[in-house]
Amino acid sequence: MIKVNSPYVGEEELEAVAEVLRSGYLAYGPKAREFEREFSEYLGVKHVKTVINGTIALYAALKALGVGEGDEVIVPDFSFFATASTVVLAGGKPVFADIDLETYTISPQDILTKITDRTKGIIVVHLYGHPADMDPIKEIASERSIFILEDCAQAHGAEYKGVKVGSIGEAGAFSFYATKNLTMGEGGAVATNSDEIADAVDLLRNHGQRGRYWHVDIGWNFRLTNIQAAIGLVQLRKLDSMNNRRREIAEAYRDGLGSIEGLRLPEEKPWGKHVYHQYTVWVEDESVRDKLREFLESRGIQVGIHYPTPLHEQPALRIFAGGGCCPNASEASKHVLSLPMHPGLRDEDVEEVVSAVREFFKG
Ligand SMILES: Cc1ncc(COP(=O)(O)O)c(C=O)c1O
Repeated sequence: MIKVNSPYVGEEELEAVAEVLRSGYLAYGPKAREFEREFSEYLGVKHVKTVINGTIALYAALKALGVGEGDEVIVPDFSFFATASTVVLAGGKPVFADIDLETYTISPQDILTKITDRTKGIIVVHLYGHPADMDPIKEIASERSIFILEDCAQAHGAEYKGVKVGSIGEAGAFSFYATKNLTMGEGGAVATNSDEIADAVDLLRNHGQRGRYWHVDIGWNFRLTNIQAAIGLVQLRKLDSMNNRRREIAEAYRDGLGSIEGLRLPEEKPWGKHVYHQYTVWVEDESVRDKLREFLESRGIQVGIHYPTPLHEQPALRIFAGGGCCPNASEASKHVLSLPMHPGLRDEDVEEVVSAVREFFKG
């Protein structure tokens, strides 16, 4: 079976975990702080605050940005559920904006139609590892003094005009889930240049403690462990080489599949660096998408659909959707298919996927 996504871990991660276990310091501590320091340097931001997963990173960032009762936050209609559910958890209302079909990221033009006087901010998702077009979004946000929160769960190391994503908006939220470009099994982080946002996340993740047993606010326990951070440090040090391997695989897919009619391959805009968390193709004929999926799976090639339902149609989110929402997101949900993409794929695996897809379209 060729897996669609898979963690890329080995002896180094094993040794790093063993070292933490031997040290006896398992909970949040020196390794977590080391990871925060190194990841902030990597991103070019002042602060990184780790938390237990990407969902909590989004939630904590939204709370730190002041989202509460009655606040609207514009989110792309095409993303993982947590991009919108965390707005609800923070007490706000998600407002769905459509996506651009070349990058699958939020459409600046559609954001403009969704702004009201209750809009508090915008969540931008760098979906599949391709950056959203940040300049027009920054212009919209700064004119209205609303925040930008970057959902970077799928985009560790991706760049917009040479700048790492997660360092562009008021805050960036990362996930270190098992199959992400940088994994800890589970984990998350908020990146920011703002001392206030960093401090608010710090309080929220650790029972509102300012000093030992001195609680200035009501908070949670969202702390990462040293065990997870030790895995993360190894992963961070090889992130660029893992992303380069993903980019190499993407190039091999482009060489092998670029000429197939009926298939549109992911693009990399001249202003962006794609880190291919997913390699998601667009199957022109929607009735063919599921046949291709079945065919590849019958050949032992696992594929994915990211995502089969736009957020405004999710049963738990429908109440937040106004009428006439997001035709591009609805179309995308019917046409997209993710092919295997992870650094552990061998050249033979990639060739096997290419020849199976080619065979399907010839047949
Ligand atoms: C775009 C996006 N946002 C948020 C999340 C949530 O991250 P986590 O699974 O670590 O809670 C994910 C993870 O799948 C994601 O892909």
